[in-house]
Amino acid sequence: MVMSKNVIDDSGINEVFIEDNTTRLARKGADIFSGSAKESVFNKGSFVVAVSGGSTPRAMHRMLGEEPFVSEIPWEKTHIFWVDERCVPFSDSASNYGAFKSDLIGRAPIPSYHIHPMPAEDVPSDGALRYEEELLSFFQLKEGQFPVFDLLMLGIGKDGHTASLFPGSRALEEKKRLVVPVKGGNPYVYRLTLTLPVLKMARRVVFLVSGKGKAGTVEAILERKDENLPAGRVRPSDGRLIWLLDREAASLLHRR
Ligand code: 6PG
Repeated sequence: MVMSKNVIDDSGINEVFIEDNTTRLARKGADIFSGSAKESVFNKGSFVVAVSGGSTPRAMHRMLGEEPFVSEIPWEKTHIFWVDERCVPFSDSASNYGAFKSDLIGRAPIPSYHIHPMPAEDVPSDGALRYEEELLSFFQLKEGQFPVFDLLMLGIGKDGHTASLFPGSRALEEKKRLVVPVKGGNPYVYRLTLTLPVLKMARRVVFLVSGKGKAGTVEAILERKDENLPAGRVRPSDGRLIWLLDREAASLLHRR
């Protein structure tokens, strides 16, 4: 049984791993998260990651709270930020932070002041400014500079969105802001999202994609290079771009 295949696509930009099932997909994601954490801490003394919401990454988040990951990851040097958040109370089932909290926080020794949820309960425009301030301060940035995350864990929607950057959204054209408020998605609510310039600066970007429903979108991005789809526009400036797919999500790819 094939466990994992690494397929470098013809562009050489995307590193694609195809896993047999969702459990192996979650395991591969946890392996990359753990490896990135150890490498970042070895190289620079800290690991700064931004995670996404939705359902796909939850099994991976739960796995990070179990052996071997819960013991091997340098949590005391790890900072967790969010790629996007729905503007709902953390107790709401739609809250990305709320889901992450129930899946991992309390099961791994992450210092509470190393967890940086987006201010989802503020007025969205204020929340975006507050999170922008938090990023500028944490990364010690001047105006016009962008934060460089060690790792971004992204998902994609069937419509090709990633983070809360939806097809046709003005947010996709944002060149200066780090965080913007948008309205969209399912649930159709206000959200806060990192902008494309921030996503492109990361040292390592991982798309975690599962299910037949996304096979067409994956094929459009990886084989037809469709940049009308927001996820297809996440091209790290000089970081690594890794796609972790299960067999269903990869089912329309020709080279596998
Ligand atoms: C969000 C996510 C979003 C997610 C995709 C895929 O807040 O909705 O950050 O970008 O990654 O919508 O969601 P699923 O994993 O639930 O398919």
